Amino acid sequence: MDDSRQTTSTPAEDRFSLDDRLPADYFSTTLHADVRRGLGGRPRTLPPKWFYDKRGSDLFEQITRLPEYYPTRAEQEILERRAPEIAQLTRAATLIELGSGSSRKTRLLLDALTAGGTLRRYAPLDVSAAALEEAGRAICRDYPDLRVTATVADFEGGLALSDEPGPRLLAFLGSTIGNFDQSQRAAFYRMLALELTSDDVLLLGADLVKEPEVLVRAYDDAAGVTAEFDKNVLHVLNRELGADFDPDAYDHVAVWNTEQERIEMHLRARRAQTVKIPDLDLSVDFAEGEDLRTELSCKFRRESLTAELKAGGFTVRHWWTDTARRFALLLVVPI
Ligand code: SAH
Ligand code: TRP
Repeated sequence: MDDSRQTTSTPAEDRFSLDDRLPADYFSTTLHADVRRGLGGRPRTLPPKWFYDKRGSDLFEQITRLPEYYPTRAEQEILERRAPEIAQLTRAATLIELGSGSSRKTRLLLDALTAGGTLRRYAPLDVSAAALEEAGRAICRDYPDLRVTATVADFEGGLALSDEPGPRLLAFLGSTIGNFDQSQRAAFYRMLALELTSDDVLLLGADLVKEPEVLVRAYDDAAGVTAEFDKNVLHVLNRELGADFDPDAYDHVAVWNTEQERIEMHLRARRAQTVKIPDLDLSVDFAEGEDLRTELSCKFRRESLTAELKAGGFTVRHWWTDTARRFALLLVVPI
């Protein structure tokens, strides 16, 4: 770097902002409603966003490094190969990222867009303030000409995009799209179609259908990290709602649903038990062997994913896979 640039560039702390857009009553309202609805119904379920407190975000980062968890490495491989092309095709001035987590793979996009000379801003959005703080500040240090405007928000409620310079590239990586079921995905595409302009481009990571054994192992690793992550949601409910879940009284189970082509994660009660949730004035009985479904991870095929995006108002411009064809990265534009 030349000296003049070093002396004039803005200090990292002035290029970073963190905007907390979660309503003040997010926990008291949304968490309460989610838990009441999810634990009250059959099968018992919990929405996945509650996994990701500080500990949950750290455990997820550990998952991405597990030998069994191939999606991160497969997507990384595609990004390594295609990031320069993505930079050239989009010439993005802003990179927005939904569910950015540690932003580790994102650096490949930041590198290519910086080298292309177009990028001015990185705008990560996540429910995890802890993950945004850590990743955002590190990126500011490492990219001296970049503004990082982080937003703590729930992307299911809209994106609240504001004054980001265009053209904008919106990345949604890690196959987080697969954690929505079909009707949630349809609602998500509708929301995106309203928020994006014809200059914006969507970059979507999607894990593909493959042998069930490979899939099950990716969601139930030998070291037990995924089991720890799954049970973290119980720790969150204990802390936030005063619940008395005994996380050790549940087994983590990952099942391949052949018909719906998705992995389903469950916490299975090892014995009959009653859980008290004082903040909700609720008491929940679990029979021995009863499941609490904590996560879905839908796997995709090219034809059906292209079709559902089309129905949602989007055209697939590029479909890239890793050499082993485990994972796809899609460049998608509003119709
Ligand atoms: N993009 C990263 C992380 C994926 S894990 C990767 O590919 O490795 C999913 C991320 O989405 C987590 O960081 C989690 O905090 C975030 N997330 C999950 N549900 C969310 C929601 N409803 N709104 C915003 N962020 C969410
Ligand atoms: N988006 C990730 C996926 O579906 C999330 C994930 C990975 C996950 N491993 C998990 C969620 C284990 C719950 C439990 O691959």
